[in-house]
Amino acid sequence: MKLLVLNVVALPPLTVEALDSSDFCMRRVATKTCPTPPTIDTIDLHTFLGSYYEVGTTARYKLRSEGGLVCMRSNFSMDTPPEAQANVVTIDVQNTGLQVVGIESVSAFSKISYSAADVCANAARMCAMMDTSSKLSEALVRIGTVSNDIAFSSPMDLKPLNHAAAIINSSVANVYRKADALALTVTVISRIAAELSQGVGPYDTLLRALRSTVTSGSNEVRELGSNVIGNLTYTRNLIAQVITHRTNPSHVELLSEASTLIEQEIELLISQVSRIQGLLSSIGGPLADTLEADASLTNQTKNIVVTKGQVIQTTGERGNMVLSIKQTIRPYKIIALEGFPLLGYSSLLVYSCELDSNGDPVEDVFLLSSSPSIPAPIVNILLNLASTYGISMDCDSVFVPTVQTTGDCGLLPH
Ligand SMILES: *[C@@H]1O[C@H](CO)[C@@H](O)[C@H](O)[C@H]1NC(C)=O
Ligand SMILES: *[C@@H]1O[C@H](CO)[C@@H](O)[C@H](O)[C@H]1NC(C)=O
Ligand SMILES: *[C@@H]1O[C@H](CO)[C@@H](O)[C@H](O)[C@H]1NC(C)=O
Ligand SMILES: *[C@@H]1O[C@H](CO)[C@@H](O)[C@H](O)[C@H]1NC(C)=O
Repeated sequence: MKLLVLNVVALPPLTVEALDSSDFCMRRVATKTCPTPPTIDTIDLHTFLGSYYEVGTTARYKLRSEGGLVCMRSNFSMDTPPEAQANVVTIDVQNTGLQVVGIESVSAFSKISYSAADVCANAARMCAMMDTSSKLSEALVRIGTVSNDIAFSSPMDLKPLNHAAAIINSSVANVYRKADALALTVTVISRIAAELSQGVGPYDTLLRALRSTVTSGSNEVRELGSNVIGNLTYTRNLIAQVITHRTNPSHVELLSEASTLIEQEIELLISQVSRIQGLLSSIGGPLADTLEADASLTNQTKNIVVTKGQVIQTTGERGNMVLSIKQTIRPYKIIALEGFPLLGYSSLLVYSCELDSNGDPVEDVFLLSSSPSIPAPIVNILLNLASTYGISMDCDSVFVPTVQTTGDCGLLPH
């Protein structure tokens, strides 16, 4: 049982710590499937029922499913009291939010989220292009074989080959570092978009920040592209020099293969760099333009948006629930609880993960609370707990706070 009991006194504004953004490539290799965190199966149904504020969720969920909405609440209720013995219990859930930006923006935010996830996926693909099964690794093996053979016979040729290998190595390190920077860029984009989507101002300032983050990310990728491609091209020249000296046909063949592999890698990098730049420029260009245009059109009227669904709970696995809402069915696992059964639960950490059509995990967390906000240290404790379960919070699963404190939230029922 994981029962997190904490005394909540003051309620400072919610700030989410920047999570570690190094070693993106390592993390992406490690997380290839949905983690299976333990669920809180001792959750008491009657205590659980009631209305909760959403304190935060992933940027993906906020931008795609809650675009333009603030003050999100989830109300869990039952039409008829459950039978004590019932194996399966169906709980009605009603999500309510207040729409504060126009519908053009809502659709732009959703597209931003897809582009951001694509940048993440392409950064991860760039990592994979550098790993031990990559063309560069194969090229290094061939260069290494020839180097070993000629170590004593031709020290003159050994030097350029070692130089080429060293450049390839440092290019790989360069790409790894840039993947970290790119992951951080996507994190910043996601956070800004989540604020814009919730009408957090000043709008112009945030929009400028969005554009400039995108531009600097794009410049960095271009710089990476030209440096790494320039350096790799140079290694091909070094290899070509050595080839002209070698008479051993097997050396010539190995080095020619290495050169071809490097050339293929350069082609892959060029297309990867341009794909990432294209995605970034769609965010900074057309999508940012849409947001800007829509902001000047948007009505001052605020619409209450209600979504209904159901949560299914099964005996023995009360915390391992299933949510059906908007024609989708997804896991809805309670992985942390704060509070006591008799006094009511003050916070719930809910986790949902499914594999997408590429077999990559799509992870969402939802932090629900009986009060509109909870102290940042507690948020961090809960998010760190999620991390220890192997739940990803980076790049495409950035956690963002939900606006719960604007005066307009008073328009919703409590
Ligand atoms: C390149 O990296 C590989 C693997 O990390 C290493 O074995 C090799 O010695 C390095 N070569 C050079 C020239 O730095
Ligand atoms: C790669 O290229 C950049 C810029 O052209 C240069 O500053 C850097 O030293 C190069 N790295 C290697 C290992 O050649
Ligand atoms: C603005 O509000 C009016 C009336 O409430 C509505 O008819 C119109 O469609 C709204 N326009 C936009 C752009 O949402
Ligand atoms: C939650 O749902 C119950 C049952 O429908 C209702 O009585 C209650 O008023 C709702 N609470 C909120 C805050 O909407």
